[in-house]
Amino acid sequence: MKNIVVLGNWKSNKSRVEAKAWVEGFFPELSTLPKNLTLIICPAFHHLDLFLSSGFSEYLGVQNVSMYKAGAYTGEVAASMVAGDVRYAMVGHSERRKYFGETDEMVVEKVKQCSAANIIPIVCVSRVSEVKKLRELVVDFAKSGGMLLYEPLFAVGSGQAQSPEEANSAAKELVDVLGSVKILYGGSVTPENVAGYTKQEFLSGVGVGGASLDPQTFTKLLVHALQNTSQ
Ligand code: PGA
Repeated sequence: MKNIVVLGNWKSNKSRVEAKAWVEGFFPELSTLPKNLTLIICPAFHHLDLFLSSGFSEYLGVQNVSMYKAGAYTGEVAASMVAGDVRYAMVGHSERRKYFGETDEMVVEKVKQCSAANIIPIVCVSRVSEVKKLRELVVDFAKSGGMLLYEPLFAVGSGQAQSPEEANSAAKELVDVLGSVKILYGGSVTPENVAGYTKQEFLSGVGVGGASLDPQTFTKLLVHALQNTSQ
């Protein structure tokens, strides 16, 4: 049975009231989640406690961590500050690179901070060439469960997903460069198209932005993600 990873990235969305409504709408579904699903939810930092108080830490991730260890870095959240609360951290999302000037060098530092805090990094890349620079790092973190979230820029938030076959061949190229590492596809994944990705040989799952914001849509997406994965 193929294990499928589905990561929900809330990005910069949801007030307290909205986050609470999501948690209440989604939690009844948790008890029926199949065993071959690895679910990861990445809300904003200040909503983490909503999930933690509901016993959700097993599924919890953050969208970013500081490249620095804890200290005098106003506005930053160090990996060590969420250690023990979350299992995963996204690092180097294309929106972080585009709007906040994140570079590969910064991504490397962030992955190091995650490793020191026992947090599994999920490194985001949008081109195969990007990972060439990160090769050694990825080889290392893949051994401890780290994953790559491959998101071509044109597909992120545009409603224009890359085809599953093209995403699979990009994932194959990534595996050719990096060796064995779990690769997720992200970019306009919906309940309607998700099964096309999860059945691909070189894809271990998907990263979902917009379609993770509504609990009913997200639940539907999870059900469809697992279609044809039982053999
Ligand atoms: P999207 O975002 O599903 O809204 O395209 C994906 C992502 O950036 O993680």
